[in-house]
Amino acid sequence: MAIPDSFIQELLNRVDIVDVVDASVPLKKAGANYSACCPFHNEKTPSFTVSPTKQFYHCFGCGAHGTALGFLMEYQGLGFVEAVNELAKRVGMTVPQETRTVEQVAAQKAAVGMHEALQVAMHYYRGELKKSEKAIAYLKGRGLSGEIAARFQIGYAPPGWQNLAAVLPEYQSDVLTAAGLVIANDQGRRYDRFRDRIMFPIHDQKGQVIGFGGRVLGGDGDDAGPKYLNSPETPLFQKGHELYGLFLARRAIREANRVLVVEGYMDVVALAQYGIGYAVAALGTATTPYHITKLMRQTDDVVFCFDGDAAGRKAAWRAAMNSLPALTDGLKLSFLFLPPEHDPDSYVREYGKEAFERAMQGAMPLSQYIVEKLGEDNDLLSQESKVRFLNEAEPILKQIQAPRLGLLLRKRVAELAGVSLEELEGSLGLKQTAVKRAYQPARSSRKPPTLVRRLIHMLLMRPALAERLDGRLVAGKGVEDEILRRILELMRSQPQMTSAALLHALQGDLPEQLRTELSAELMEADDGLALEEEFAGALQQLRVTWERQVSTAAELLTLAQEKGLQALTPEQRALLQSSRWGHGKS
Ligand code: GTP
Ligand code: MN
Repeated sequence: MAIPDSFIQELLNRVDIVDVVDASVPLKKAGANYSACCPFHNEKTPSFTVSPTKQFYHCFGCGAHGTALGFLMEYQGLGFVEAVNELAKRVGMTVPQETRTVEQVAAQKAAVGMHEALQVAMHYYRGELKKSEKAIAYLKGRGLSGEIAARFQIGYAPPGWQNLAAVLPEYQSDVLTAAGLVIANDQGRRYDRFRDRIMFPIHDQKGQVIGFGGRVLGGDGDDAGPKYLNSPETPLFQKGHELYGLFLARRAIREANRVLVVEGYMDVVALAQYGIGYAVAALGTATTPYHITKLMRQTDDVVFCFDGDAAGRKAAWRAAMNSLPALTDGLKLSFLFLPPEHDPDSYVREYGKEAFERAMQGAMPLSQYIVEKLGEDNDLLSQESKVRFLNEAEPILKQIQAPRLGLLLRKRVAELAGVSLEELEGSLGLKQTAVKRAYQPARSSRKPPTLVRRLIHMLLMRPALAERLDGRLVAGKGVEDEILRRILELMRSQPQMTSAALLHALQGDLPEQLRTELSAELMEADDGLALEEEFAGALQQLRVTWERQVSTAAELLTLAQEKGLQALTPEQRALLQSSRWGHGKS
C-alpha cells in the first residue's frame, strides 16, 4: 500500500532539511542559506546549498537537488519507503503501518535499541562510579570535581565480564554487539567490552550517547590493555566525524565565538572545569577535513592546541594539512604550541584560565605556521634549498581554494624563494582562479523564460499564490503548461503544501533538465516582497494572452462553422480544440 501523499507532506512540513542534511554533511551558514562541499560530486569549494526557507537543497556544481526525503534517498541510498520511515522516526511521526516490511520494522527497532542500550549503559556506569571508591579517588586525584564529572556524565565500568547483563536483560541481542557494548568471541561467548575503566560517554550533536571512551585507572595502560579503549565504529559512531565534547560545548562556542581543539578527553574536561567550556577533542584520530567543516559551522575562529611534545606537533601539522581544502577567507585558524612538558590539562591547572586565553591570543595563524614549517631546516640560501622549498610548498598551495588566503600565501612563498608571484604561479601551474561554476542556470545561457515558466517559478517559490490563478487561463499544450496545470491541481487538493512538498510531488512530472533548472533558479531567487507584484503582473499578462487566444478561437470557430473543419490547418484545429470553445458548443 502506498504511503498517502498527505502523510508525505506533513512529514516534509515537520522536518527541517537543514538538520537532516547537517547530520550527514555538516553545513555552514552562508547568508540566508547553508552551504557545504557537495557530497554528490568531488569539489573543493562549496557549491552545495540548502535553503531553510524553501526546504530543499541544490548543488550549483553538479545540479543535484531535492527535498529532505530526496537527500536521504540519494545520500544514504535508501529506497523511498525506507527514507520516509527514517525521516518519520526522526520527528516522531508514525508511518502508516502497512508500508513497512517486517525487516524494516526490525531494523528500525534495532537502531532505536542501540541508542537506548547506550543510554542505559551510561546511566549504569554513572551509578557504578558513585559506588566505587577506587574510581572516585582516581578522578579526584586528577583534580576533577564531582560537578564536572556529572556534567560530562563520566562513569565507571567495574571489573567483571557480564555486568551489563544486569541492566540490559537482552544481553544476547545483536543490538548490544552492534552498539559496541558487548563483544562476542569465536566460541560465541559474550562479554562486556569495557571493564574496570573510567567511562567517558561520547555524544552526537543532539546529545544522544553514541559511544564511549574508557580509560584505565592510573598509569598509561599496559597489563590492563591500552590506556584508552574506544567504542568501535558503529552505525551511530564514526570517529572521523565526531568530536568529543561538542554537544556540551555548543553554547560556550557561540558565546566565545571560538572553538579550541585539543587532543584528549581529559583536556576537554579539565578545560571546562577551569572555565574554558569551548574545547572539543578529536577521538584519538587525526583531525579530519570533516571535523574542520563541522567546526566551521559553529564559529569562524578555530584554535588548535596540541600537546607540547613531538607527537603533539606532528598532530598539529596533520590538522593543518587536513584543513587546507576546507579553508575559507573568512576563517581564522591558528595553532597554539604549549611548552613540551605540558598538555592543555596540565597547563590550565598550573596557570589558569586567563593565562590560557592569553596564550590563545598569541596562537600562530595557519599561514605563518605553514611558512615557518616549510622554512624549518631550510636556510633558503642556495638554489637547491629554494627548489626544495618550492617543491614542498607546491602541494600545500594547490589545496587552498580560499582566494585571498591562497594569494597571500603564494606571495609570501614567492618572496621567500626570491621569485615573483607570476613566476611562482607559472612554475607551479597555478593561476589566479576565477570563481566559476560548472552549472550555469538556464536564465543566463538561454532565451528569457516564458510567461508560463515564470508562473511555475513563482508558484514553487510561494505555492499559496496558486489560489489567485484561474486554471482556465492555462490552456496551452506544452510541457510547461502541463506542469503549471498540475501545480494548480495539486494546490487545489492540498492548499497547505509547501515549496518542498510541491517540488517533491512534481518529481514524476518534471523532465530532469527542467527540474534541475527550476531548482537552481529557486535557490538563487530571493524570496522578496516583490514576488506578489511580479505575480500580479504575470497574471495580467496571462489574461491578455488568453483573451487574444479566445478571440482567435472565436474567429476559428466561425470559420469552421462556415467552411467546415477541414478548412482549418492542423494547428488551428488544435488551438480550437484546446480552448473551451472547441468543446461542447460546436
Ligand atoms: P590522560 O592521559 O588521562 O591525561 O588522557 P588524555 O585524554 O590527555 O590522553 P592523551 O593526551 O594521552 O591522548 C589523547 C587522546 O588520544 C585520548 O584522549 C584518546 O582519545 C586517544 N588515546 C590515547 N591513548 C590511547 C590508546 O591507548 N588507545 C586509543 N584507542 N586511543 C588513545
Ligand atoms: Mn592528558
